[in-house]
Amino acid sequence: MIKKILSSMVMLSCLHAVAQQKGVITPGAIWPDNKGVHINAHGGGVLVHKNTYYWFGEHKVEGDEGNRAQVGVHVYSSKNLADWKDEGVALSVVEDTTSLLVKDCIIERPKVIYNQKTKTFVMWFHHELKGQGYKAALTGLAISKNITGPYQYIKSVNPHAGIWPMNIPDAYKKTDTTLNVEGIKWKSPQGQKLTEEGYFVRRDFKKGQMARDMTLFVDDDGKAYHIHSSENNQTLHVAELTDDYQNFSGKYTRVLEGKANEAPAIFKHEGKYYMISSGTTGWDPNPARLSVADHPFGPWKELGDPSRGTVAENKTTFWSQSTYIIPVKGKKNAFIYMGDRWTPKNAIDGRYIWLPILFEDGKPILKWFDSWDISIFNKN
Ligand code: DGJ
Repeated sequence: MIKKILSSMVMLSCLHAVAQQKGVITPGAIWPDNKGVHINAHGGGVLVHKNTYYWFGEHKVEGDEGNRAQVGVHVYSSKNLADWKDEGVALSVVEDTTSLLVKDCIIERPKVIYNQKTKTFVMWFHHELKGQGYKAALTGLAISKNITGPYQYIKSVNPHAGIWPMNIPDAYKKTDTTLNVEGIKWKSPQGQKLTEEGYFVRRDFKKGQMARDMTLFVDDDGKAYHIHSSENNQTLHVAELTDDYQNFSGKYTRVLEGKANEAPAIFKHEGKYYMISSGTTGWDPNPARLSVADHPFGPWKELGDPSRGTVAENKTTFWSQSTYIIPVKGKKNAFIYMGDRWTPKNAIDGRYIWLPILFEDGKPILKWFDSWDISIFNKN
């Protein structure tokens, strides 16, 4: 009950905005595209290409079935990050019931990166199979020569079948013959210990690891990383992609073992890698988590909660869950936190919480702004 009252208070305090104005970002408001329709790109990511931003995200529909893929991945373009043009559906689900991409499967958190060598746009997304809930924990791949698509669906995989993570101790590479995990709560100390000691990695070793909430990150040297919630959402895996970005190279590490992180979003600032992630509370928001590393593979060090709002705002990350961090083109030290305010009862009504990332004592932080535009970064 108290949780419910607190929730509605936060909703009210964060929901003062009504609609976006031209050139201005109004977090939590209805965000009309060039046709006046609320942008439909949830759990998304933004790619900057040839001086234009492209926002890819889950196309939701009305009602609670709208969280399953009835349409596919939608894409929008913009020059100023505030006004967006509808570029249509980049990846479509299909009617063919023999395809894994059949309508009513789950497609979440699509991210697109550009591969210079093959001149190809590469999309990876979290993919669940129709009628199986979140059991399959696959990551899907689709590619296109054209940034706005149509993207061709290639495959979905549980990565790293038969490959150990680079940072797992040899002692954990044993086979569990007698272990009974029935009734174990994975967030309890006992569950966390089992996870840390590699229970899930061993369990999924042959078939491939779980890959749910995900993001992509391309480093300055062109190497791309696929970062995803694995091990029953208890541990993140940071995986290097091959040079064409279309496969896993086989090099991966376990990150923040047993700490149950979802919604990873990564950026690089002054030689350090920062990650904002969330805890695991379904569609409900929870406090964001900030971590730092000297390399995407880690080790990652936890830096606490980056939110600097009221207690209620911090508890819910301004009523949002991270999805991506946009490096603003042509500006140094200018990054935007992209978060989703999910509305599972009517998925299409989900709102976007975009906030400028500010730095306090050299560390990234989040503060609420009723509205703002990218001139906020001119001071940098
Ligand atoms: C939290 C994840 O971050 C979302 O992408 C979605 O999978 C929901 N869980 C489903 O409950």
